[in-house]
Amino acid sequence: MGFWKKTVNDIDIDNKRVLLRVDYNVPMDESGDITDDYRLQKSLPTIEYLLEHGCSLVLASHLGRPDGKVDLAFSLEPVAKRLSKLLGKEVIFLKSCVGEAVSKATADAKPGQIFMLENVRFYKEEEINDEEFGKRLAEDSHAEVFVQDCFGVVHRAHASIVAVTHYLPSVAGLLVENEVTTILGVMDNPQRPLMAIIGGAKISDKIDALNRFIDIADFVAVGGAMANTFLLAQGFKIGKSVAEPKEIATAKKILKRAEAKIKEQNFIFYLPQDGVVATSLDRTAQTRIVDWDAHVIAAIENYPRQAPRRTEHVLADELILDIGPFSGAFIAGGMQLAKTVIWNGAMGVTETKALHGPVGPFAHGTELVVDAMLGEYGHKPFTVLGGGDTVSYIEDRKLTDCFDHVSTGGGASMELMSGKSLPGVDALMDKDG
Ligand code: 3PG
Repeated sequence: MGFWKKTVNDIDIDNKRVLLRVDYNVPMDESGDITDDYRLQKSLPTIEYLLEHGCSLVLASHLGRPDGKVDLAFSLEPVAKRLSKLLGKEVIFLKSCVGEAVSKATADAKPGQIFMLENVRFYKEEEINDEEFGKRLAEDSHAEVFVQDCFGVVHRAHASIVAVTHYLPSVAGLLVENEVTTILGVMDNPQRPLMAIIGGAKISDKIDALNRFIDIADFVAVGGAMANTFLLAQGFKIGKSVAEPKEIATAKKILKRAEAKIKEQNFIFYLPQDGVVATSLDRTAQTRIVDWDAHVIAAIENYPRQAPRRTEHVLADELILDIGPFSGAFIAGGMQLAKTVIWNGAMGVTETKALHGPVGPFAHGTELVVDAMLGEYGHKPFTVLGGGDTVSYIEDRKLTDCFDHVSTGGGASMELMSGKSLPGVDALMDKDG
């Protein structure tokens, strides 16, 4: 199915005044310097397209979660400066989003002129999808068209995402079109075998996505702290590892769903069989490998002796911080057969930085997955990444360009992968409308 909403390509946009919603929620360091401009780069095709068509632009974005209050730590001014550098063109920064100053500045906008509004989340009206605020955004910017290119927030009904569309003809930008068609393409009509690798901290955040992947994928591998809750559900001891005991019933249901599919067809639902454990998250902490399936191997192989207990069990004061080498090898090996891989969520703790080199002590499982996705072991599948933390990790490693699709939206890509509709996309004009 093609994209069913109108885009900038489907309307007469020549010389129009455009209000363009972008996602410039970029990471910054303590001194306010942008540490990664991936989202800015991804907004350039739409901006350039509109400029080529003689439009003037008023850009609106959020940055962080200032909670409806002015907090200059979340000002978009440095972002306006970076964008100006990237475009080689002046970007006029306005210190508000609505009101007289905005209206005055944008009233006589000339073709090619670019304005950027201050953070829309400085207004409490934004997150409650206030109609009046949406109307003010439309009117005070003197826009004739609203272009939605903020994939990262299309899953939220906010005023600059939904309410504003009630006051202007509203179409998708090229980024939103590309995100939606690529993600739906691999979900609805993937090149098979399709492998989904789901990690991160919480099952509760990804229940719908996990169920969806069990339904559509050929191989689902689970890692990260969410695997710990599955291990608990299967009766394993996980020491002090992060888990969600309240979600054990959910984990059991998900396992049942997976088992039912395994009975019906060729399908693998893989939980880690070993892990890297330590008693703290410290980068100098002593680590060891625990292989909770070792007793199974021992029994099958009929070794004269069982593996020593200390290699089979996570101790009471230990935490599982990464998948182990067997699990990493199994996932990377399975990937050699996959034509499409969707990855969301790290396999271990990636925040603990390395003493030396780029790979942290608990990021080796994640790195194995990354290497396999990049074809390091011979086969290169079509790769799609979603999820805020996964993408930040890849950005940090400067590998963003090495994957086929790295989504700019964390929550939004998860919702779309879960089969949910996105209010910010629903609000746009239908192609056949
Ligand atoms: C993101 O970073 O995923 C988007 O910009 C959305 O941000 P939010 O989760 O604060 O709405």
